Amino acid sequence: MAGDNIVAALDIGTTKIVCLIGEMDEHGDIYVIGHGISPAEGLRRGIVVDMDKTVRSIRKAVDDAQLVSGVEVDRVTVGIAGEHVRSINSHGVIAVSRSDNEITAMDVKRAIEASRTVAIPVDREIINVVPQAFSVDDQSGVKDPVGMSGVRLEVEAHIVTASVTSAKNIYRSLERCNLAVDHMVLESMALAEVLLTDDDIEAGCILIDMGGDITSLSIFYDGAIRHTAVIPLGGKNVTNDVAIGLRTSLTQAEDLKRTHGAALASIVDASEMITVPGAGNRSDKEVSRNVLASIIEPRVEEILSLAGREIKKAIPADALTAGIVVSGGGALLPGSIELAEQLFDMPVRYGEVMGIAHMPDGLDSSAFVTAHGLLAYGFSHEPEKGSRGGPMKSWMARLENWITKRF
Ligand SMILES: Nc1ncnc2c1ncn2[C@@H]1O[C@H](COP(=O)(O)OP(=O)(O)OP(=O)(O)O)[C@@H](O)[C@H]1O
Ligand SMILES: [Mg+2]
Repeated sequence: MAGDNIVAALDIGTTKIVCLIGEMDEHGDIYVIGHGISPAEGLRRGIVVDMDKTVRSIRKAVDDAQLVSGVEVDRVTVGIAGEHVRSINSHGVIAVSRSDNEITAMDVKRAIEASRTVAIPVDREIINVVPQAFSVDDQSGVKDPVGMSGVRLEVEAHIVTASVTSAKNIYRSLERCNLAVDHMVLESMALAEVLLTDDDIEAGCILIDMGGDITSLSIFYDGAIRHTAVIPLGGKNVTNDVAIGLRTSLTQAEDLKRTHGAALASIVDASEMITVPGAGNRSDKEVSRNVLASIIEPRVEEILSLAGREIKKAIPADALTAGIVVSGGGALLPGSIELAEQLFDMPVRYGEVMGIAHMPDGLDSSAFVTAHGLLAYGFSHEPEKGSRGGPMKSWMARLENWITKRF
């Protein structure tokens, strides 16, 4: 890929595949210089079901992004999500190696490595290990132990695992597109990168991403990700309900949902009428917009209630102060925020992307947040050792490289 100041992100969603190419300038600002979007064909609920179709979809998104930016992409930061993705909290402990007891970056790495040795079924592989907090001897809650003195270093880590087959098939699809992988990242981590501030993560915050087939949930508090869950329902279920309820095709239902839909029937004027094109040889009919919203509302409520149940399981509600942040195309329905506020009795807001200095028109929608998050993640994280990409530099090094090249 031309230059170290360029990163490519690939969001393989259940409805669409998005490729973004980002360039970092001399101030460390990220500009989206190319993008490509293609319908996600060959995938079901984040799982490859038809390799050829998946490869074609990925290729199309990447080709379009290359065309727009004039940059050739050979490696990507790719997101992973789906029902097959699970997470657990684990613990790692090591003896500090230096005789003077000073903790080094290598000790931290070893402690994180030690946390990986949890019992994981053979059909699952570890995708990400995210340190939550360290303890040095008896002192807990340490954020960065490097340079501290101690004999024992412990880490609490959040371990994300995915089904081996599902992850492999994604790698294989990328391989067939001649794309190396800088990072495979849990999508929630990518979202947090651009939607949450350090204060949000410290104070406590819940991310809900309503996609096509799935809704992902992640819970952050005390400075780190603590819990993730996937609800196997999303915007596609809403569309299905509309198609059945109004006896129309899925395509028409999707269109009606996007143009006239709402997640809360009470915000819609009952006298407003919409035309429902009849499926097959049925004739068109007029229905109140309120009827459409009444079909949508219970499904969105179901999705949010299931998210609520997960939240209750994971944490006591009073532990959270910063509230809920929503993203994903499914959350674009008017009234979603209000409905979520009613259900959770907590402040709810749309996620606003931070840290991307410029993005092309149309990419500021909720549906593209994951892709922006992956891009920001690619810039801020050095590829893990043994990642399937070539050696690449951290963003600081990239920035230095950029400056040296231009001045
Ligand atoms: N303007 C809109 N109003 C209502 N719903 C919308 C709108 N735009 C998109 N959607 C819905 O959002 C869903 C897709 O969301 P998104 O693009 O976030 O999913 P994805 O990233 O492809 O999938 P996932 O995150 O599940 O892997 C679809 O069901 C679509 O109907
Ligand atoms: Mg998505």
